[in-house]
Parts: sequence; structure tokens; C-alpha cells
Amino acid sequence: MSAPPDGYHPVPPGKLASVVTSLEMLAPAPARAEPSGLGLSLRRVAAPGADWYRALYARLGRDWLWFARLSMADPALLAILHDPKVWVFALEQDGADVGLLELDFRQQEEAEIVYFALAAELQGQGAGRWLMNRALEIAWAEPIGRLWVHTCTLDHPAALDFYRRSGFTPFRRQIELADDPRATGALPRDAAPRTPIL
Ligand SMILES: CC(C)(COP(=O)(O)OP(=O)(O)OC[C@H]1O[C@@H](n2cnc3c(N)ncnc32)[C@H](O)[C@@H]1OP(=O)(O)O)[C@@H](O)C(=O)NCCC(=O)NCCS
Repeated sequence: MSAPPDGYHPVPPGKLASVVTSLEMLAPAPARAEPSGLGLSLRRVAAPGADWYRALYARLGRDWLWFARLSMADPALLAILHDPKVWVFALEQDGADVGLLELDFRQQEEAEIVYFALAAELQGQGAGRWLMNRALEIAWAEPIGRLWVHTCTLDHPAALDFYRRSGFTPFRRQIELADDPRATGALPRDAAPRTPIL
């Protein structure tokens, strides 16, 4: 595996750099105790509209500078979202969409949790456990032998440990460079102030 040499590497203005950790689960992990009183439900969105999806993605992902889906043109985005092997779910509470779960079964015998997020007001109450329990039930009901997920250092600082507590084991670390979505205009310039825009 080729890797850049040790030391500091300049990141050009307008770019973001992060460390990505991928984690996997090779057999269904036991469900974790979950709260029952949050009034949560999960809705499969069979053919998401690009505008609905992008709005939810931007709302849930802006604090973490999620960018990948914001810069895609509609045909490319919908080619993924309308693939019968890509399953998009909205987490609902009191009729509002407060979370996103996206599962990708396009690789045979495995699934990826591509996106997993709660709205800020729902974090830290066990809703993550609730959503992960549903994700594990849905994914492992299919004929897969591996479920994987990745998270990066721009995500919520608790995400990596949350995935480990949920039963995933880290197996790969990568460095990712990408356009800063605030520099391209895909997200407002005041998003994610803990990561200064350069
Ligand atoms: C990562 C993320 C999903 C974690 O969700 P969360 O709700 O904070 O996680 P949990 O469900 O584990 O809840 C956190 C704590 O609430 C506690 N909690 C409070 N009330 C609870 C209850 N009634 N039942 C269970 N747990 C409860 C738990 O103790 C839990 O901590 P523990 O697992 O260490 O015991 C969430 O922070 C998030 O969506 N972040 C933004 C998007 C993101 O970064 N996604 C991941 C990148 S791919």
C-alpha cells in the first residue's frame, strides 16, 4: 500500500482533510437496550425526490460538513437513490423527519450503512441505539455476511465509539481530501465553525 511520507502535508485553501475509519461487523451484534418513550418510527422512502433528500442531508450533515451528495447533479444522485439495492429511511418523530438511515446492498453478500444521522436535538438520549437496532434488524434480515460503515474526523466526535459500542470493529484508516462544501457554496459559510474555513 503506497502512503504519503510521514510528516505534515499542506492542504490547499478551499479543501478539507479528514481521517476516515471504516468499521465492520461479520455477524449480527446483539441489540442494545433502547428507550421506548421517544415516539420514533422509521419510514422507508422508496423513491426519494432529489430536493427532499438533499434538504434532509444538508440539515443533518451541515454540522459535520457532509458534502458528497450535495454536489451531485440530480441524475447521478437519483441513479443511486432509486437503485433497488439502495434503501433510504427517514427517522420520524411527531410527524417530522429527524434522522436518516441509508443502506446500500449493491455489493453482493454485504451491506454498507452509507449514512446514519440524528438531528441535533435528538442526540444523547438513546435514539442512536434505537436507529442502530433497526438498521441491524433490516440489514441482517438480508443474505449478507458483512455490514460495514465509515466515519471521519469531521463527523460527531462520539460517532466512532458509538459504532464500536454497537458491535462494529475498525478495519481500515484513510486520509480523505475534498472540496470544502462551504467554499463551493454547497453549505453556508457559517456551517461547522469548529472546523475553520481557510
Ligand atoms: C453518532 C450518533 C448517531 C450517536 O447517537 P446518540 O443518540 O448520541 O447515541 P446513543 O443512542 O448511544 O445515545 C448516547 C447516550 O445516551 C444515553 N441514553 C440516554 N438515555 C437513554 C435511554 N433511555 N436508553 C438508552 N440510552 C440512553 C446512553 O447512555 C448513550 O450512551 P452509551 O451508549 O455510552 O451508554 C449521533 O451523535 C449523530 O447522529 N451524530 C451526527 C451525525 C454523525 O456524525 N453520524 C455518524 C457519521 S457516519
